[in-house]
Amino acid sequence: VGELTATDLKGKKVFVRADLNVPLDDSQNITDDTRIRAAIPTIKHLIQNGAKVILSSHLGRPKGVTPKFSLAPLVPRLSELLGIQVVKADDCIGPEVEKSVASLPEGGVLLLENVRFYKEEEKNDPEFAKNLASLADLYVNDAFGTAHRAHASTEGVTKFLKPSVAGFLLQKELDYLVGAVSSPKRPFAAIVGGSKVSSKIGVIESLLEKCDILLLGGGMIFTFYKAQGLSVGSSLVEEDKLNLATSLLEKAKAKGVSLLLPTDVVIADKFAPDANSKVVPSSAIPEGWMGLDIGPDSIKTFNEALETTQTVIWNGPMGVFEFDKFAVGTEAIAKKLADLSANGVTTIIGGGDSVAAVEKVGVAEKMSHISTGGGASLELLEGKELPGVLALEEATPVAV
Ligand code: 3PG
Repeated sequence: VGELTATDLKGKKVFVRADLNVPLDDSQNITDDTRIRAAIPTIKHLIQNGAKVILSSHLGRPKGVTPKFSLAPLVPRLSELLGIQVVKADDCIGPEVEKSVASLPEGGVLLLENVRFYKEEEKNDPEFAKNLASLADLYVNDAFGTAHRAHASTEGVTKFLKPSVAGFLLQKELDYLVGAVSSPKRPFAAIVGGSKVSSKIGVIESLLEKCDILLLGGGMIFTFYKAQGLSVGSSLVEEDKLNLATSLLEKAKAKGVSLLLPTDVVIADKFAPDANSKVVPSSAIPEGWMGLDIGPDSIKTFNEALETTQTVIWNGPMGVFEFDKFAVGTEAIAKKLADLSANGVTTIIGGGDSVAAVEKVGVAEKMSHISTGGGASLELLEGKELPGVLALEEATPVAV
């Protein structure tokens, strides 16, 4: 992928696609600005080099023009972080936008309105992509979180606007989620959690090809237990995935991967934050009880296994960490990874719920890399090509 470095940026109109799809509350306040902060280095680099930045993103999944999905609430935070007043356009294409672009000074930033206000965006309509492209001289894709979508502003636009290059965030995500995972410093451990095996099959299969140690946690473990003939009480089980669980265990064995399942679990008498709970061996879950977290022995075993590693990737919580009582396993892993990071181990948090867990524990800053993608990081970890990245590879790379 062409990188954004020594290009001559001065005076150039640069179309930057970022993923500023941040959560807003009912009063339109940003409740998590991580994605805005993550987009700043590329935009700063551009403005410091005298470019005119045309900034574009989607927000939510609007059906047509919907005021509550406007990007307007992002302007104050963006302006604050960039140290300049960001100008907001009311549209993302058309004569008014063209006028605003024409009056943009060097080092200025124009934030376009939500690209998904046009259905042509998600349809990857060539005419719409061409209209977006016509605004600028150069395309920078920094929207890692949306790189798994072949949309007009992430994919189609590269056909009409060259050079098309990756921004710093997109590049960093690829360096860690592809680079560090494909050629890891070994031993390399993968920790995979989450409630369903079905949503993690691809990730587990792909990581089994690369890792030395695989630690499994979260609701999915009960499908593995049941596949091994254990009783799981009323724990979550995907009955149609029992054979798959068995074959994943066999595959790990055949590949020489040390696959560890929790040896004890925290069980509850109902799915609620105030449920009665106790710790039992994984082989002794009584009828009517459900497993909601990994137990203390498992935490100890997992920690010991992690001690030996040089690279760790984590995707998916160990238990129902939204309930404090069942957050202990997930929080212990987050703390362990923070310690390992401090000792020079490469620690990668692969998107979604595990990011929320690491943030809850307050150790986000300690990790080598925290992905800003949900679906995008999952697809990348499954070994899939992301259309937004592929489009850049096919576009003319910029000399560095
Ligand atoms: C995300 O939040 O995962 C990205 O912004 C992509 O959003 P989407 O799933 O609506 O395409």
